[in-house]
Amino acid sequence: MVFDYIDGASGDEATARRNRTGFDGFLLRPEILVDLSSRSISTTLFGEQLAMPVIVGPTGLNGAYWAHGDLALARAAKAHKIPFVMSTAATVGLSAMAAHAGPLRWFQLYMLNDRGLAKAFLERVAASGFDVLQLTVDTAVSARRNRDIRNGFTLPFRWTTRNIWDTMCHPRWALQMLRTGSPSLALFEEVMGPTPRGSTIAEVMQQQISCSMTWRDILWLREQWGGKLVLKGVSSSQHVLEAKAAGVDGVVVSNHGGRQLDGSASTIEQLPRIVQAVAGQMTVLIDGGFRSGSDIAKALALGADAVQLGRPTLYGLAAAGEAGVSHALKILGEELQCALALSGAKSIADMRGRVVQE
Ligand SMILES: Cc1cc2nc3c(=O)[nH]c(=O)nc-3n(C[C@H](O)[C@H](O)[C@H](O)COP(=O)(O)O)c2cc1C
Repeated sequence: MVFDYIDGASGDEATARRNRTGFDGFLLRPEILVDLSSRSISTTLFGEQLAMPVIVGPTGLNGAYWAHGDLALARAAKAHKIPFVMSTAATVGLSAMAAHAGPLRWFQLYMLNDRGLAKAFLERVAASGFDVLQLTVDTAVSARRNRDIRNGFTLPFRWTTRNIWDTMCHPRWALQMLRTGSPSLALFEEVMGPTPRGSTIAEVMQQQISCSMTWRDILWLREQWGGKLVLKGVSSSQHVLEAKAAGVDGVVVSNHGGRQLDGSASTIEQLPRIVQAVAGQMTVLIDGGFRSGSDIAKALALGADAVQLGRPTLYGLAAAGEAGVSHALKILGEELQCALALSGAKSIADMRGRVVQE
């Protein structure tokens, strides 16, 4: 059930599959006889130096995949000198995270129904040293995720025959959860009070997250938040033009890893039009289906500034905790270095344009 929660997507999971196959529409160009003795994959985002153009994106319920999973992800990101984005659906509170996260700490917000609470929440987020805020805008309603419904994956955990059998088949995970206790949406509870029992995780979030958010609220948020503001879940050039007008600093081209509107396009397919609409005036991040250094290189070549990861680091986390996340990041970093070098690029900026559409 935990694997299905991470790996699964909404509906028929067509968009999640398309996020992967979309990369096949773009080809890297091998370059030869280039002097590569001096090269680097480091980059600057929002004035901060990153060892590579990769961000550990926001994911909820990380403590259910590995004990204290949020902290393991944050520590691995810190070791690799890349940002970690803490989710509103974190299983630890702000102070615990502040003690473990590196200086590149970003925060992801699900807009709360109560804007007064949202404002107070943001003040605490800023006071904990988070300087970039990603507002997720593609979750006005939660999509139906069939695997979670079938598995009865609920919060707090509800024992069914199926779950008991599943748990018995995964003793290492079961022992971890026994030791640390069933994970809860600790950050959410810090702000909102205890979550209602027995509903699916999607339903729990749905009860608290605003479904009435419009562009007017983005203007409101722009006034409340003094740091960099990024919209996560942008998928068209029209969205980008509106975001620009609202004073937003960046966008994440995202379809929530295919977990929301099933049947929509892959993010990599949409990237070229969005980069064109941004016209260099905002930071462009992208996520969805990135599983190798070559995938990341294609996004950079198409004009993205950096790539966010969802499942790749979660697979590492669920397999081996912080060491697993670090291993996943190491593989991706090495593959990215290789992809850039063999494309003849000496830097991230130099990679731009080194791709052809099939
Ligand atoms: C298990 C899981 C939990 C997620 N939780 C959140 C979340 O709390 N907030 C959010 O904005 N996005 C969340 N996402 C979406 C990711 O941030 C990201 O958009 C998506 O996973 C990218 O696709 P990828 O998994 O193929 O890399 C979650 C994704 C997964 C797989």
